[in-house]
Amino acid sequence: MSLSAVVLLCMFGTVTSEACAVPSAQQWLVTGLQTQLENGVKQQSSPSPSVVMALNLAGGRDSTATKRLIQDIKGIKDMTSGKVALYVLSLQSFCVDPKDVPTAGGRVNVVSALEEKTNEEIKHYYDTGTPKTTNYQLALDILALCVEKSPDAKNAAATLIKIIKGCQSKGCFDVDTAAMVALALSCVHDGMSKGSKMEGAITETLRVITAQILDSQQESGIIGNIYSTGLAMQALSVTTEFYPAGAWKCTKTIDEVLRKMYEGAFTNPEAGSQILPSLVGKTYLDVATLNCFSDPNITVHYTVINQLIGPYFNYSITVKVPKGSVLLAALEAAQHVNPTIFSFQTESTSWGPMVISIHGVNGSSDDKTYWQFLSGEKPLDQGVGSYKPTDNEHIVAKFSTY
Ligand SMILES: *[C@@H]1O[C@H](CO)[C@@H](O)[C@H](O)[C@H]1NC(C)=O
Ligand SMILES: *[C@@H]1O[C@H](CO)[C@@H](O)[C@H](O)[C@H]1NC(C)=O
Ligand SMILES: *[C@@H]1O[C@H](CO)[C@@H](O)[C@H](O)[C@H]1NC(C)=O
Repeated sequence: MSLSAVVLLCMFGTVTSEACAVPSAQQWLVTGLQTQLENGVKQQSSPSPSVVMALNLAGGRDSTATKRLIQDIKGIKDMTSGKVALYVLSLQSFCVDPKDVPTAGGRVNVVSALEEKTNEEIKHYYDTGTPKTTNYQLALDILALCVEKSPDAKNAAATLIKIIKGCQSKGCFDVDTAAMVALALSCVHDGMSKGSKMEGAITETLRVITAQILDSQQESGIIGNIYSTGLAMQALSVTTEFYPAGAWKCTKTIDEVLRKMYEGAFTNPEAGSQILPSLVGKTYLDVATLNCFSDPNITVHYTVINQLIGPYFNYSITVKVPKGSVLLAALEAAQHVNPTIFSFQTESTSWGPMVISIHGVNGSSDDKTYWQFLSGEKPLDQGVGSYKPTDNEHIVAKFSTY
């Protein structure tokens, strides 16, 4: 369930009709946090994956951070599983496929690295009774694997459920861990057919885990402590079907978070990165469905050169045309932008349109002159009506003789 659905539930679940979202009068606090995190990322040579992921979820994608993030992947072998999971999620939030990351040392599959690390966690659990790192990291691993639709997610989730069963009485899950478990299992649950044994086990665990998170809800609205509240909000917003309506006083939680934010509670970037997604109505699960920006246009550099008959000229322009356009479209775009210089005329032939004149200079059979089209220095083997330039291609129209 999305956070907006929670907003609706909260509206009907509380006595006041106030919506459970950041009130517009306090929106500036959220914008301020976002700006603060953005500035932090700009200054870091190694940006924190959780911070860039939070910013991407909030819609402020800083594409320069991608490169720096990718550079850091070379250290993947020495990272803990949870750190690798954060890289998987943050790359995905940039719409970079974590299964095929172009690094300086070749292409890297970060998802299969995570699968290996997760299997080590599980093996360690069966050997010693605890995961290699923490339950929190194991849950984060499962979340990232699930977001990437790795078949290993389900297996690891089964182990996590086992751990939780053995753990309940000892209360060995703090709010952060419980929230991460809820996010991970909720993701696995979403991709599952109803009624299976595994689905039943996940449902039962999510009931237990959400109850535990809600037990930590304080009168003030804080869940656990102020720093665990962000993740708890994310968890509770995707698991509403597993706890009673109205059990989470989400308006109170948001009000208190904003009050603490005003007092400067989230100046630490990691803390800020955990609270930001819930304040913009997003959770880590949304990383899977972020609308990846992709430019529908390609860039074409276009030069017209005449060194044959005076007055000589040599003009260049850069135009954008929709992907898949033929060269003629780029010529038209250039003419549209600067008709004085890039005007041209075509004649239709049985091979399609042929450019006979550019900038008032006509090809002539008497002089054996024509407009030759080249890609860089290589003559094109197709006409302007069928040749499709690629992104950043340099097309040259050169007045030539034959
Ligand atoms: C793509 O090109 C069209 C027309 O040239 C323009 O309207 C549109 O804004 C461009 N889109 C982007 C994302 O640059
Ligand atoms: C045309 O102009 C560009 C830069 O303005 C220059 O690099 C190029 O050599 C010129 N071409 C010719 C053939 O003069
Ligand atoms: C170039 O050709 C066009 C179209 O055939 C014609 O209208 C124009 O007068 C010609 N210009 C010159 C300078 O010959």
